[in-house]
Amino acid sequence: MKAAFIKKYGNDEVMHVGDLPKPQVGPHDVLIQIKAASINPIDFKIKAGLLKFLRKNSFPLILGHDLSGEIVKIGDQVTKFKKGDLVFTRPSSTGTFAEYIAVSEDEVALKPANISFEEAASLPLVGLTAWQAFESANLHAGQRVLIQAGAGGVGSFAIQLAKVRGAEVWTTTSEKNIDFVKSLGADHVINYKKEKVWDVLKGMDLVFDTLGGDDLYKIYPVVKKGGWIVSISGSPDQKTARDMELGAMKTFVLGVVGLKANLLAMARGIHYKFLFMKPEAQQLNQIRILVEQGKIRPVIDSVFQLADIQKGLEHSMAGRARGKIIVKIAD
Ligand SMILES: NC(=O)c1ccc[n+]([C@@H]2O[C@H](COP(=O)([O-])OP(=O)(O)OC[C@H]3O[C@@H](n4cnc5c(N)ncnc54)[C@H](OP(=O)(O)O)[C@@H]3O)[C@@H](O)[C@H]2O)c1
Repeated sequence: MKAAFIKKYGNDEVMHVGDLPKPQVGPHDVLIQIKAASINPIDFKIKAGLLKFLRKNSFPLILGHDLSGEIVKIGDQVTKFKKGDLVFTRPSSTGTFAEYIAVSEDEVALKPANISFEEAASLPLVGLTAWQAFESANLHAGQRVLIQAGAGGVGSFAIQLAKVRGAEVWTTTSEKNIDFVKSLGADHVINYKKEKVWDVLKGMDLVFDTLGGDDLYKIYPVVKKGGWIVSISGSPDQKTARDMELGAMKTFVLGVVGLKANLLAMARGIHYKFLFMKPEAQQLNQIRILVEQGKIRPVIDSVFQLADIQKGLEHSMAGRARGKIIVKIAD
């Protein structure tokens, strides 16, 4: 099958597009013919070797973390799906930049019926990330949430989901995306190039931090006592390591890495959580329903062919995507 893969880690390593063996199908797996996948920043981070500490990979390594497609074969013990089902998923392994992938049936959900394969492929990773962030902090009606980088893949989904949950939404973006984030439902928009969010905002129940670094450490005063910061780009910590069952040594190291974020939270009487999104088919089903009800719409920035995936990855690295970058794999 055709696949896009790397042979080693490195910033200079380019994506190879070539033939690799079709995956084996285990008894609980479905074999999916992939129609479309989406590009996420995690793809270029893995390519550069930045996640080596958290995940062991072997080469050649097919990148890609979510997809939509058609089930073309099922394992002996599969009960939930049949050949011909149209699905979307964020599998627990990488490998969606390819014509086929075998995925445990427990990680798969039927794709929303009212959208295209390209649109469906845009949803799993960012949708589950926003879903799990809001579940962690129990975001509910009447609360105030700040979503950093509202125009990005995660942000454009998160704004819509926060509105579904009845929250009042603040978001940050540059000038050119202000109308766009408003069209997704943002109630208040801060142009981060003109104003620092920590200078103009306070009393938030939740900050959803998609930026990390100094932007994370400076955001604490924006959150009210008892509120939450859920970060997907900041410091993983001891809890992350325990959740991922990384063993004693790595748990100790991440404990040190995440210390500052946790101490700042303790000092201000707020909760801090680093979230590493997990595959979850039940949540994908909920997302499917919201999309079919028209409450959430996919947002596509651009579509690349598999042969041009390197260009797609470079576009993602530039950090200016409005919504999701898609890789089209089959008609
Ligand atoms: N831990 C997890 O499980 C998890 C899951 C998903 C994603 N992530 C991480 O979350 C981050 C965001 O992912 P993504 O897919 O949303 O990225 P993305 O789609 O590449 O984000 C691009 C967007 O970021 C905006 N942006 C850039 N700098 C900004 C700033 N300083 N303030 C406000 N907006 C800014 C840009 O808007 P403008 O052009 O208007 O600047 C652009 O629309 C990445 O680091 C990713 O690796 C982590």
